[in-house]
Amino acid sequence: MQDIIRKLESKRDAARNGGGQRRVDAQHAKGKLTARERLEILLDPGSFEEWDMFVEHRCGDFGMNDQRVPSDGVVTGHGTINGRLVFVFSQDFTVFGGSLSESHAEKICKVMDKALQVGAPVIGLNDSGGARIQEGVASLAGYAEVFQRNVLASGVVPQISMIMGPCAGGAVYSPAMTDYIFMVKDSSYMFVTGPDVVKTVTHESVTAEELGGATTHTTKSGVADLAFENDVEALLELRRFMDFLPGSNRDEVPVRPTADPADRQEPSLDSLVPANPNKPYDMKELIQKVVDEGDFFEIQPGYAGNILVGFGRMEGRTIGIVANQPMVLAGCLDIDSSKKAARFVRFCDCFNIPILTFVDVPGFLPGTSQEYNGIIKHGAKLLFAYAEATVPKVTVITRKAYGGAYDVMSSKHLRGDVNYAWPTAEIAVMGPKGAVEIIFRGDIGDSEKIEARTEEYRQKFANPFVAASRGFIDDVIMPHGTRRRVAKALRMLRNKELENPWKKHDNLPL
Ligand code: HXC
Repeated sequence: MQDIIRKLESKRDAARNGGGQRRVDAQHAKGKLTARERLEILLDPGSFEEWDMFVEHRCGDFGMNDQRVPSDGVVTGHGTINGRLVFVFSQDFTVFGGSLSESHAEKICKVMDKALQVGAPVIGLNDSGGARIQEGVASLAGYAEVFQRNVLASGVVPQISMIMGPCAGGAVYSPAMTDYIFMVKDSSYMFVTGPDVVKTVTHESVTAEELGGATTHTTKSGVADLAFENDVEALLELRRFMDFLPGSNRDEVPVRPTADPADRQEPSLDSLVPANPNKPYDMKELIQKVVDEGDFFEIQPGYAGNILVGFGRMEGRTIGIVANQPMVLAGCLDIDSSKKAARFVRFCDCFNIPILTFVDVPGFLPGTSQEYNGIIKHGAKLLFAYAEATVPKVTVITRKAYGGAYDVMSSKHLRGDVNYAWPTAEIAVMGPKGAVEIIFRGDIGDSEKIEARTEEYRQKFANPFVAASRGFIDDVIMPHGTRRRVAKALRMLRNKELENPWKKHDNLPL
């Protein structure tokens, strides 16, 4: 018995030591924590239950028989974040560069399978040199097993990828199929082909950081959702993020106590929208003043800034917020913002998260670049996402709601449940100037006539009343009362039931 216990302890020590002190030091020298140190920060103290610590690879080629490290380069199991269950895998770069072997993949699949059965999120901390080169196709098969589970778990449990080191080649496709990708600045990168291949094929010289670093993916490609300064910040923010999410599509949103009164008034909002309709204002201010305690967890803040998306709470319950941002491109919809918001709306709908939409949109961005790159298909994604969403949808139009973009932004016609407008709302096919230049083209030389016509159009449409008279707007509300009205609407909608017709799945315009 003593012997067995000693052997057990020595095996556990071997697993905990990973690839040995030299490699741990090298990991620290790069400013990176080890797989286990990361889990200590991510999970509640003492909550981690590790599985498969004794799993080893089964490869006998290339001298691998002599190199066996228990855990095989990935630490897996479950624990809690602020008391709520999550499943985790954390790749250990100190063991064969965190590369994925057949056994390593089996460990990941085991936690994914259990997460799906019990209805809890899966968090992957990625730090890996990719497929275990010594294992060949066995490793590729392992990736595909993970991919398959990513797809089956999509929309059932939240899946989060935190990229904390290399992630290259086909390995990028597992994170790509998860719900959110977060990255650490300067120490993580993601690309399908690295700088050397790029140089050979396209003759471009580019560093790994430029090609696929955190800044690139959170500002240029939109592949990643957030970039953090270092491992510690990343993991602490991930804990904060997880507090917003339900465990699965079977759960309701988490509720946390709040001291922020639902009927809090915000008089400053009455002067948020400038008198001049062409002047921008910061939509983020409105969001922060409406949600509980001003706590807005923004997703993709550095990408497609003309639309804001993120999580907040009302009366302690998670909501998703989508808002046009007049400060960037006048808040218009373009390809990137449509894709960004569509994916967010669909995530909320998967996981029973009500959607609050703030609208100030002058329309879709014109131009050849937009048309050639498919704004028709991409804009349709957002329209599709709102139209199929069955979660509670509350909409507030603060100013412009023009043209097709009015329809898209959670309008009544797309089953918006409660649609409010501020007195400053302008709901029309287009702005007064553009409208008059089209319908009174013959008068264009006559500035007095044009001005009179523009004023007439403004009087008729640059207000919320035409839409309200048809019931497209449920009420015109005062800006200072927005929080109270939205909270009431969401409370009323708490037991909303709505189902789409049965189908195998839809055919979203991809
Ligand atoms: C086995 C690997 C490995 C791998 C790294 N190591 N990658 N072992 N398989 N894929 C080992 C190294 O031999 C080394 O072992 C240790 O991990 C650390 O690696 P270093 O090269 O010393 O570290 P660093 O300089 O930081 O470079 C990291 C790296 C580099 C950029 C990731 O290791 C690298 O380029 N690795 C190969 C990447 C690759 O081509 N992977 C296969 C891609 S194809 P020692 O014993 O010295 O510590 C792929 C397909 C997936 O992934 C397909 C899915 C469909």
